[in-house]
Amino acid sequence: MNITESVESIMVASVDAGLSAQNLMTAAESLGLGIVPIGGIRKNPDEVIKLLGLPKYTFPILGVGVGYPSGNSKIKPRMPKTLYRHDEKYNSENIKEDILEYDKEMASYLEDIGRIQEINWSSQTMNIYQNVYYPKVYPVLKDQGFENCK
Ligand SMILES: Cc1cc2nc3c(=O)[nH]c(=O)nc-3n(C[C@H](O)[C@H](O)[C@H](O)COP(=O)(O)O)c2cc1C
Repeated sequence: MNITESVESIMVASVDAGLSAQNLMTAAESLGLGIVPIGGIRKNPDEVIKLLGLPKYTFPILGVGVGYPSGNSKIKPRMPKTLYRHDEKYNSENIKEDILEYDKEMASYLEDIGRIQEINWSSQTMNIYQNVYYPKVYPVLKDQGFENCK
């Protein structure tokens, strides 16, 4: 098998995992269950691999917590569609304004649910992406047989 030398193997697997997780979550919610997607499963992928006995050429991309919610939480404001939906061509006009608008919506949502916000949503997001927050992903992918060199 040579596809594991290419980042394409990670891309195709991630798309498939995301699609199947979304279907699982939609189905679970239709049955009255609650869900939480867990990207944090990639924080210590070596431990998850051990725990689940995952063989070579597999990797824990995404987890989903499923259960009966104890209550109904408020719906987090969704990002304006202008930030990610583009017709025919990528359109970067107004992106900054829309982000600033979303910052305001998030601030009011967080206040509503009683969470203290030290910095706004966009600054917090920028801070997260300034770091390789899950440094084990790359070496553990290699251990699992994914070279990612092409
Ligand atoms: C791809 C993805 C990964 C996520 N990973 C985590 C996670 O690791 N831990 C966690 O507590 N929530 C995680 N979440 C859940 C979000 O925190 C959750 O969606 C947020 O609380 C807002 O809830 P809502 O989108 O259902 O309104 C993730 C969400 C997505 C879409």
